Amino acid sequence: AAPCDIYASGNTPCIAAHSTTRALYSAFSGALYQVKRGSDGTTTSISPLTAGGVANAAAQDTFCAGTTCLITIIYDQSGRGNHLTQAPPGGFKGPEASGYDNLASAIGAPVTLNGKKAYGVFMSPGTGYSNNAASGTATGDEAEGMYAVIDGTHYNGACCFDYGNAEISSTDTGNGHMEAIYFGDNTGWGSGAGSGPWIMADLENGLFSGQGSANNAGDPSISDRFVSAVLKGGANKWAIRGGNAASGKLSTYYSGARPTASGYNPMSKEGAIILGIGGDNSNGAQGTFYEGVMTSGYPTDATEDAVQANIVAAKYAVASLTSGTALTVGSSISLRATTSGYTTRYISHTGSTIDTQVVTSSSTTALKQQASWTVRTGLANSGCFSFESKDTAGSYIRHSDFGLVLGASDGTKLFNEDATFCPQTSLNGQGISIRSWSYPTRFFRHYTNTLYIASNGGVHTFDATASFNDDVSWVVSTGFA
Ligand code: AHR
Ligand code: AHR
Repeated sequence: AAPCDIYASGNTPCIAAHSTTRALYSAFSGALYQVKRGSDGTTTSISPLTAGGVANAAAQDTFCAGTTCLITIIYDQSGRGNHLTQAPPGGFKGPEASGYDNLASAIGAPVTLNGKKAYGVFMSPGTGYSNNAASGTATGDEAEGMYAVIDGTHYNGACCFDYGNAEISSTDTGNGHMEAIYFGDNTGWGSGAGSGPWIMADLENGLFSGQGSANNAGDPSISDRFVSAVLKGGANKWAIRGGNAASGKLSTYYSGARPTASGYNPMSKEGAIILGIGGDNSNGAQGTFYEGVMTSGYPTDATEDAVQANIVAAKYAVASLTSGTALTVGSSISLRATTSGYTTRYISHTGSTIDTQVVTSSSTTALKQQASWTVRTGLANSGCFSFESKDTAGSYIRHSDFGLVLGASDGTKLFNEDATFCPQTSLNGQGISIRSWSYPTRFFRHYTNTLYIASNGGVHTFDATASFNDDVSWVVSTGFA
């Protein structure tokens, strides 16, 4: 039995079931998610390989070959039509046109399930999905349960990487108007033991790690790569549970009465569904979602324990983040543009600006060094790479406000993430394309001979679709210096 079969046997059926990696009912063979490709703007739906099985990632790879793809819809498998789509503006605007949030790249979170490749939803800051007209979700003080399988190493402290029940207006309508799983190390409201990240409950105007609105030491810091995060709430009771999604059992981090702060008992749930954002469309958080459901009724611990056993049996494991020409850690490389008219230009730095310059074997030693990069293991993820300046040891190519700059490592999590890039088979067939680990819709791109992390279409001038594939494709050679 799959997770939603298990919840149904426990008389707390799924009223929403979302996953880009697998079917959550053993009989489900319909569309799991929809992707849209950059080359021609067309869409396709990705279904399980077999009923109840793992997503057909190969169908996505074929459809998206030689271009970019975004996840446009995460379908609801429950039959209620509670699909998740690009979140609209609310209390806060998203970065896209008209204040919508960004959509996730289709390739940012590759994994395997029982050895079969699938893709999760890697959500950078600014990314969000929602359904403000969901049916069958809990409203008022009605009982519900939910779980999500997420990446325990992908988080930040911004508000709020959430999955669950929220306001139908995408605005903050007051305490108790939400009930969603939160994951991250935000300490602006509650917190748990250690330095985080924590699984908490976003109940609106508060991330709760237990009954008290501040620190609750019973909620542990999470360090697993794959995490099962569980939340449920009913009349004056609620619980947070969690565990390693790849092995073992769930633990209960809190189970008891509602917070005593005003507005949380009874609850005033509204029944929208959010993913990756706060109830008011706060969209600064990051995280990765693989699968999750919401139920009608308060599931028993035994039901959730059986769901956890099913998740473990699905055998989530990491998959390669890179493809194409392999890079060798410790080697010096140079990277040549492939856009017609620019093919003598190499990625260089002029002071702290990353640009392209014409470099040849007879260039000065100084210029050769400016155009040479030492390949390092990715500062934020060992499956990808960082690029250290040949002439300025300790300084790396990093993005900042979507420009590429040469920055001295300060050892922070943000620097490391901004300086981690994942090479892949190039979009134009020459060399490699270099994807930002933290913003996988974005690639090293030259635009007016300056380097950015650019998406294939978007609000910045450097996101222009014209000549995108060529501008993001780079031939790798031994470094000039
Ligand atoms: O409860 C924390 C956050 O507070 C909610 O997600 C958001 O709506 C508000 O800013
Ligand atoms: O480049 C995008 C973001 O801009 C980086 O992650 C951050 O360092 C800066 O604020």
